[in-house]
Amino acid sequence: MNFQQKMLREDALKNKNIVVTGGGSGLGKSMTKYFLELGAQVAITSRNLEKLKTTAQELEEETGGKCFAIQCDVRNYDEVEKMKNEAIEKMGSVDVLLNNAAGNFISPTERLSANAFDTIIDIVLKGSKNCTLAFGKNWIDKGEKDKTVLNIVTTYAWTGSAYVVPSATAKAGVLAMTRSLAVEWAKYGIRFNAIAPGPFPTKGAWDRLLPGDLKDKFDLAQKVPLKRVGEHQELANLAAYLVSDFAAYMNGEVITIDGGEWLKGAGQFNLLEDIPEEMWDMLEEMIRKKKNK
Ligand code: HXC
Ligand code: NAP
Repeated sequence: MNFQQKMLREDALKNKNIVVTGGGSGLGKSMTKYFLELGAQVAITSRNLEKLKTTAQELEEETGGKCFAIQCDVRNYDEVEKMKNEAIEKMGSVDVLLNNAAGNFISPTERLSANAFDTIIDIVLKGSKNCTLAFGKNWIDKGEKDKTVLNIVTTYAWTGSAYVVPSATAKAGVLAMTRSLAVEWAKYGIRFNAIAPGPFPTKGAWDRLLPGDLKDKFDLAQKVPLKRVGEHQELANLAAYLVSDFAAYMNGEVITIDGGEWLKGAGQFNLLEDIPEEMWDMLEEMIRKKKNK
């Protein structure tokens, strides 16, 4: 099976102007590339302008699309306002906000300083809130409709997860914001959805979540029923669909794309997968024998 096939038809995002936070690397970059291939203009934004410029140039050369690099720390509302104005100035208008920027690292929670916890909450929750408020208010004030916000969360937004507690706390907040505003701002013609990815290898995430030989000790593919990690194009296909007009009736949804990973951890008897095939005859016999006793 080819997991790298592109799903949408050519020009599916023609005339869409998209802002991708954290678009200079990892999944943000992969989604941006596909948006450009589908005819969108994209502004990528993060703290590191040099990285953004390099990515924008690389993606323009690869796709023939138009990609703008705008510096912005999403934790700072004034910077977000400036970034929004610059994106509008460069692209004419903005139709889609993709809240993808994040910070994360593994740590026992008792080792975290108050500032360490805040840092993650500020990037993930406050950053998504800052961008949503800046772009949302602008759309509402101008009476512009047919806008959409896509938030990247995680599957532990609803299960929680040990050792990444600030991230889990913040992503849960982003999910609540997604579902709340999907209802409240529908009247302004703004849709809200979220994607909860399972493991999709990126340097940013793997350096902070699986440093050193943890990568080999904890092979995340083994936690996934489909026994593999995700391909970036698979996520990009879903994101492109959700921000496109094909998804005009999708609102308030969170779509999990994780090969079944989180459910495997949740189902009480899923651990029976470890029972060898040849043991099942014996087990069945033992259960049947008890029937009439
Ligand atoms: C404990 C740590 C720490 C660590 C930093 N801190 N790293 N504490 N263990 N490993 C503490 C610092 O000491 C400081 O607290 C506070 O956190 C802020 O650190 P700074 O380095 O000053 O922050 P900053 O420069 O803003 O960098 C933010 C960052 C960094 C989050 C720490 O890693 C970053 O820039 N990350 C961006 C990219 C990223 O994280 N990508 C991964 C997303 S993956 P004190 O008290 O000393 O001042 C993801 C996927 C989830 O979300 C699901 C995967 C399956
Ligand atoms: P990544 O490459 O590290 O992406 C994070 C991006 O956020 C970087 O480009 C970073 O750019 C930007 N960023 C961080 N702090 C910022 C700030 N204060 N202001 C603006 N931008 C900031 O990691 P990734 O794996 O692609 O993650 C992308 C998204 O997917 C995140 O929301 C993550 O939680 C989510 N996710 C990833 C996985 C996975 O398996 N990879 C799984 C579930 C969810 P700068 O450093 O230049 O600022």
